[in-house]
Amino acid sequence: DAGIGEYDHYMQKEIFEQAAVLKQTLEGRIANGRLLSDCFGKGAEEAFRSIEEVQIVACGTSFHAGLVAKYWFESVAGLPCHIEVASEFRYRPHIVIRKTLFVTISQSGETADTLAALQASSDIGYAHTLTICNVPESSLVRESEWALMTKAGPEIGVASTKAFTTQLTALLLLVIALGKHHKIDDKKEIEIVRQLEVLPEQVAEVLRLEPDIIEFAKQFSNKHHALFLGRGEQYPVAMEGALKLKEISYIHAEAYPAGELKHGPLALVDDQMPVVAVAPNNDLLEKLKSNLQEVQARGGELFVFADTHAIFEEVKGLKIIRVSEINEIVAPIIYTVPLQLLAYHVAVIKGTDVDQPRNLAKSVTVE
Ligand code: G6P
Repeated sequence: DAGIGEYDHYMQKEIFEQAAVLKQTLEGRIANGRLLSDCFGKGAEEAFRSIEEVQIVACGTSFHAGLVAKYWFESVAGLPCHIEVASEFRYRPHIVIRKTLFVTISQSGETADTLAALQASSDIGYAHTLTICNVPESSLVRESEWALMTKAGPEIGVASTKAFTTQLTALLLLVIALGKHHKIDDKKEIEIVRQLEVLPEQVAEVLRLEPDIIEFAKQFSNKHHALFLGRGEQYPVAMEGALKLKEISYIHAEAYPAGELKHGPLALVDDQMPVVAVAPNNDLLEKLKSNLQEVQARGGELFVFADTHAIFEEVKGLKIIRVSEINEIVAPIIYTVPLQLLAYHVAVIKGTDVDQPRNLAKSVTVE
């Protein structure tokens, strides 16, 4: 359905479609706690056995999906993973030592820089190519050996939302498929697949936070700058949150891994600089909390998305929205959703053109 239905904008509709499209992305690819073997196309399963490394290339939001996947490949699957924006990758020499899978990520499948990087990859010496893409008839799909389609349906809003979360979901399938020949044993595969099975329902649940997020959004509309903080695989989630906010609300937003605050951005923090943090209950939570105290001490206003069980002291300038407890592996997907809603509602309050922000294009087919 390409219509806008009950929603005010395509972006809002696409945010709310996420539970359904994630389900679609998983359909026919997992069953009984396992990844089904023929998801990636002819010859892929066999070739994956010999892959020792992954190189990801993408642009924009798709690049952020790749950044999350780097954490997954290295920490969960046990494969080295490199990632670079396509516009940089294509203009420098590369050294490929091991058998490396070259992975492009793209909603449109037509981004000029990503396509040019793919076209250069076989000469450079990458073993195989795979694209994670949303448009079946696109150039990237045609020119890659294998394609894993994201099945998000048409995305109309220039600011990418459902394409991103379906990319992450598809990437987790690839993490399992490659990781099986490395660090992922049967038990781990079953655990990840179980998390994927409940993911659509968890996304539906986090979408119910919209009224609370609107309250947050009201406090951003007259601001000129914002900081987004995350640690570990939540750092790219923070980057994506900052990108969404700047794309559609025109508020200057930057993301930092929270531990870097003291190396510069802390100098900017005052009561005019809202700071958003994504804080699931993981190993880095205590470290993140001490980073947040640095912000509080400078009068900064903190907007935190935290796990139900994460304990925060009640202090002035700290506002928390609780996200129900979720498994760490899918946390980047879940925590992305409230940040999309935050950007969306700030833009709505500011009255900007949400679906077609100034100066931006949905698909960048020129250099
Ligand atoms: C443009 C769009 C972004 C998108 C990026 C990469 O900048 O506005 O939303 O993330 O291109 O596009 P792709 O289609 O390759 O994912």
